[in-house]
Amino acid sequence: MRVSVVGCGYWGSKLVKEFCDLIGKENVLVCDLDGTKLAKIKEKFGLETTSSISAAINRSDAVAIATPVFTHYNLARKVLKKGKHAFVEKPIAKTYGQARKLAELARQRGKVLMVDSTFIYSPAVRRVKELLDSGEIGSPKFATSRRLNLGLYQADKTNVIWDLAPHDIAILSYFFGEFPESVSAFGTSTIISDVADDAHLILKFPKGQQASVHLSWLHPHKVRETIVIGSDKMLVYNLDKDPQIEVHDKGVVLKNPNPQTAADLEYKHSAIYPHQISGNLPDMCKHFLDCIRENKTPITDGVYGAKIVRVLEVADKSLHRNGKAMRIDY
Ligand SMILES: NC(=O)c1ccc[n+]([C@@H]2O[C@H](COP(=O)([O-])OP(=O)(O)OC[C@H]3O[C@@H](n4cnc5c(N)ncnc54)[C@H](O)[C@@H]3O)[C@@H](O)[C@H]2O)c1
Repeated sequence: MRVSVVGCGYWGSKLVKEFCDLIGKENVLVCDLDGTKLAKIKEKFGLETTSSISAAINRSDAVAIATPVFTHYNLARKVLKKGKHAFVEKPIAKTYGQARKLAELARQRGKVLMVDSTFIYSPAVRRVKELLDSGEIGSPKFATSRRLNLGLYQADKTNVIWDLAPHDIAILSYFFGEFPESVSAFGTSTIISDVADDAHLILKFPKGQQASVHLSWLHPHKVRETIVIGSDKMLVYNLDKDPQIEVHDKGVVLKNPNPQTAADLEYKHSAIYPHQISGNLPDMCKHFLDCIRENKTPITDGVYGAKIVRVLEVADKSLHRNGKAMRIDY
């Protein structure tokens, strides 16, 4: 198996390392339009490089695309049309229509199309899902998610929602077992006009759960945390803490099943249970290669990627209508 990685910037260079570890550097070809970046990666990994997209596609069985979002559709389309498998960074495309076209093309050509929803392949996120499904915190009632940092403004006017929310939408939809049915988005453009750099989303899920998400490129601390409040306990997943998962046996206990006033309530502040996980690194590249070898559909295939794009598109509409709650049709 030979894989070309197109785009060897911040994230692409991580994919290069991952594919080298999985299939050997002699089977990895790196492509970028920026000669300086290519020279750096060649020096670091000692592998073959090219600035030609056609060469990258023709000389491999599969292509991983880690370029800016506005290039994903054209590049992935070329890859699939040449009969090669495609791994595309999140979000898979700029519009739901483009994403659906890619999914359909992959289906017609019988090729694997996978979007890198990295967190779905993270051992910690999988462990949280197991805990939620086992009833560890009772029934999940609502969630809050925060993804904050001093973020990088992008050349193509991508806003903070398109940059960061694909992760939260993926994580929350995975935890609740379904995609949201409505979204409200509020944001502010602090540095560049009409590029939201701090935003809040309210996502509503079909079974009635709600999640609030705070996304920011202007924050003093790096925070990547999702908290799920259950009927029984509270679960904290924090990527930047060790251990990443804690279940807090904390909450409100009802003295009366139909509480009318605070007198019907008691509070519990019991133990905190840390949950260790084995291994921290997400295995999305391995999943992509396994799907090709075993002719399987990826967990985060083109149709999945399109749904995430749909949520982003509707969130953008809501942002421009001052947070109006908008239904998401898939
Ligand atoms: N999965 C994750 O957790 C994660 C994290 C960060 C970024 N990303 C995604 O990865 C993608 C790239 O982000 P980044 O932060 O690495 O950006 P980056 O700017 O650091 O790197 C992009 C690279 O693509 C190259 N490039 C641009 N157009 C090209 C083209 N047509 N052909 C070949 N090379 C081209 C640029 O020269 C650059 O080296 C984005 O889609 C982003 O959303 C994913």
